[in-house]
Amino acid sequence: MPSSIPDPDIAARYAFAQALARVAGEHAMAWYQRLDTLRVESKGVQDEVSEADRDTERFIRARITEAFPDDGILGEEGGDSRNGQRIVWVIDPIDGTSCFLNALTSWCISIALVVDGVPTLGAVYDPNAKELFHGASGRHAAVSGGGWLNERRIHVKRAVHVGDGLLGTGFSHRSKPDEFLPFLGRVLDAGGMFYRNGSGALMLCYVAAGRLIGYYEPHINAWDCLAAIAIIEAAGGRCNDFLAGDGMASGNPILAASPALYGELANLCGKAIV
Ligand code: IPD
Ligand code: CA
Ligand code: CA
Repeated sequence: MPSSIPDPDIAARYAFAQALARVAGEHAMAWYQRLDTLRVESKGVQDEVSEADRDTERFIRARITEAFPDDGILGEEGGDSRNGQRIVWVIDPIDGTSCFLNALTSWCISIALVVDGVPTLGAVYDPNAKELFHGASGRHAAVSGGGWLNERRIHVKRAVHVGDGLLGTGFSHRSKPDEFLPFLGRVLDAGGMFYRNGSGALMLCYVAAGRLIGYYEPHINAWDCLAAIAIIEAAGGRCNDFLAGDGMASGNPILAASPALYGELANLCGKAIV
């Protein structure tokens, strides 16, 4: 269904999101280059947060608020500043924090725009690789330009079977091992192979770019995946209805793949994915 938000308003936010992801990536990179000075706190099992995460989120929020003061914002570190707005920014200042803090390179900035409850556009920037993944759903004619990696069009891989390439997976201690390990066993039994790099947002973008054939994680949060969902859908892929139920505030499972592979992967999950 087309949205009644004017196309130019969305087009302006799309250009802004791409520029903001790049500049926020360079901002976070300045912290990454002096990791030994960072203050780090634990939020839970294998879940840390640093000054770099908090400062980068403040940086992103300040620019959104300056440019689009009436929009809502939901961010991993800065919380929920929504107040019934139809246009909401969903941001993860650093996705792949454990990689970032351990001097590994797979981390990124993830910025999504949700319009009337639909993931509408996304910009995900990997400052180490200098790769900006971006894309917009086709609901707004002004921004229906498919999925992109920098200036190059991207498309999901034409995989039909789990053995046709590498499958991205993720796990956090918000889930129980029993919710995940049987899935891995079924993937391997079916001739598949898994890949994990510690950044759900980046692995999902690799699905959009055809590097991975799909992605499954039993629980992920909205800021980890909404930008990539918009990009995957723009690049011809299929994702579950992530925002079903209380997905925005509490998260959900995430399943993404080429349309031809989606059904097989959904069966391998071993539980119904909305
Ligand atoms: C995490 C990463 C990880 C995924 C987790 C996320 P963070 O985000 O995306 O790959 O498996 O579910 O929480 O903590 O690095 O921002
Ligand atoms: Ca994250
Ligand atoms: Ca994060």
